[in-house]
Amino acid sequence: MADHTELIQAALAARARAHAPFSKFQVGAALQTADGAIITGANVESASYGLTCCAERVAIFKAITDDHANFTTLAIASPGGAAPCGACRQIIAEQAPSATLILIDSNNPATTLETDISTLLPNSFTATNLTTDH
Ligand code: THU
Repeated sequence: MADHTELIQAALAARARAHAPFSKFQVGAALQTADGAIITGANVESASYGLTCCAERVAIFKAITDDHANFTTLAIASPGGAAPCGACRQIIAEQAPSATLILIDSNNPATTLETDISTLLPNSFTATNLTTDH
């Protein structure tokens, strides 16, 4: 089994860079690429609450716009080790479909859960659906 220690530490450290003055719920995400790069993100909240962007999407969007690809692992650290929200599941399904997802309880970092997006979002809508005759 792969050693994810560095990636887990990166996700935990990224929480400190969250901008979460409203919920106070800090989430950190760290994305690993096949060539070994690690790209991190944290949640950024807006006073117009619905504009908030989750840590997972910040990390994925940073990675894509910095020309990274082939995402192998996504570590997510939050109090209680929350699973990604529905919006993030959609983006993960499109951009990191084969990544191992590691959920980390930041209150107890030794507690991790490994899963994948086909478990969290089965039968997802992706770009291939748009290739159907329409
Ligand atoms: N949040 C994330 O960053 N990732 C998730 O998957 C769930 C929720 C953030 C959004 C908001 O800033 C705070 O957690 C409370 O919902």
